[in-house]
Amino acid sequence: MATNTTEAIVANQPAQSEFALEARDITKSLPLGRERIDILKGISIGVRHGEFVAIVGPSGSGKSTLLGIIAGLDVPTTGQVLIDGIDITKMSEGQLASVRNSKIGMVYQAFNLIPTLTAQENVEIPLYVGKHPGLPSVNAKEMLTLVGLAHRLGNRPNQLSGGEQQRVAIARALVTRPALIIMDEPTGNLDKTNGDNVLNMIRGLQQQTGTTFIIATHDPNVASSAQRSIRIEDGRVA
Ligand SMILES: Nc1ncnc2c1ncn2[C@@H]1O[C@H](COP(=O)(O)OP(=O)(O)OP(=O)(O)O)[C@@H](O)[C@H]1O
Ligand SMILES: [Mg+2]
Repeated sequence: MATNTTEAIVANQPAQSEFALEARDITKSLPLGRERIDILKGISIGVRHGEFVAIVGPSGSGKSTLLGIIAGLDVPTTGQVLIDGIDITKMSEGQLASVRNSKIGMVYQAFNLIPTLTAQENVEIPLYVGKHPGLPSVNAKEMLTLVGLAHRLGNRPNQLSGGEQQRVAIARALVTRPALIIMDEPTGNLDKTNGDNVLNMIRGLQQQTGTTFIIATHDPNVASSAQRSIRIEDGRVA
């Protein structure tokens, strides 16, 4: 049964739920020395298909922790995450990996590029997992060109500036054309021009392809472009 539902989402079936993403009463606590700290204290959010939602709030409030959980990279202590109506917190690691590859694009706050690979190779990686139309090298080049890095295809991360690494990470998240894109501070290291380029790409994709965006940001330009902002304060929705 679980396998069938996974196949249904992987095969890009019509929407099963009005929500692209639903988080239900998410808590996260972690051990810190002998104590446990409560990082998320019961967060419930629903994001509809095609929505662009900003997650805002002070540093340390729990935004990155929440994004990691809704992207299926981390498990909540309690609560459920539903991607298009399907509970990913009950999936096996293999099923989850497949859903992440086909449905979710993630941009991490710390980029997470593979240091030994070039920019182009980093962007190609997700295309070698699962089934994706076209040639990985062609798609990767196209996406890197879109983020203004056509002249840096062969550079490794340590040969790129912070903003350039961020743009490689964005290209890698978008290259599989996922239905749900989760970004953690995507413009944090970018100058005005590149920040505007990324924002325009987000708006274009949202309008042309109905992609759903959930973006944690301190950038007022990004937050004001979103249709809705959800404010997190001290592990709760404010
Ligand atoms: N592995 C961990 N162990 C213990 N505490 C952690 C761990 N990861 C995060 N925290 C704590 O959880 C809280 C929330 O962190 P998180 O990274 O989610 O915040 P954030 O809202 O993304 O902040 P920022 O805006 O600075 O990126 C912080 O107080 C942080 O110190
Ligand atoms: Mg963060």
